[in-house]
Amino acid sequence: MRIDCVCAVPQSFGSFLDSSIIGRSREKGLVTLEIHNLHDYAKDRFRHIDDTPYGGGAGMIIQCQPVFDCIEKLKSEREYDDVIYLTPDGHTLHQQMCIELSNSKNLIVLCGHYKGIDQRIRDSLVTREISIGDFVLTGGEIAAAVLIDSVVRLIPGAVSDAQSVLDDSFMNGVLDAPYYTKPAEFRGMKVPEVLLSGDHAQITKWREQMAIEKTRNRRPDLLDKSEPT
Ligand code: ADE
Repeated sequence: MRIDCVCAVPQSFGSFLDSSIIGRSREKGLVTLEIHNLHDYAKDRFRHIDDTPYGGGAGMIIQCQPVFDCIEKLKSEREYDDVIYLTPDGHTLHQQMCIELSNSKNLIVLCGHYKGIDQRIRDSLVTREISIGDFVLTGGEIAAAVLIDSVVRLIPGAVSDAQSVLDDSFMNGVLDAPYYTKPAEFRGMKVPEVLLSGDHAQITKWREQMAIEKTRNRRPDLLDKSEPT
């Protein structure tokens, strides 16, 4: 899989792209990640990529020209499954969307910054608009990092124990069960007896029950969705 990330502030990614599962997936060749700085596509010597909004209002808007130049160059080099724009007014990201995106060959991920991007970019280049939640971040780079992380970890081979991904919250339509590790007792708090029993059928049953209970308490909307209509 290849992801081309188009953004105004590449340094926002920090060490994220080289660390942990993402870093290892890149090393293993499971994913190619390229960051493109929109300022490299600016035409003036101050490398401006934004301007004030027509009609007035606060904030700056990323202009068409650098984004069109960058994305058209990428599209001339290969075919892309999607051009994703990260924006708080997009469709809210969920696990099923991540699974779908993890089957892509090539993706462009466009990050907004400042007040947003010129609507003509959205109308002509963007095929999918995604929000990571009902809150507003300073820039799309952090949202892109969230998207990339949640998608790349689903590529077969990215996470060493594939079962661990299958057990994640949302994978079965419910939240994940609680987990414990050694010691069996810490400050008087004991690990549930069933987990020490070695009875795998009982352990699976217990985890399923706990997952459903937690989902009923915290996210009853998820259970409603899985019920037949
Ligand atoms: N950019 C700013 N806020 C965002 C959000 N919540 N989701 C995606 N992109 C964003």
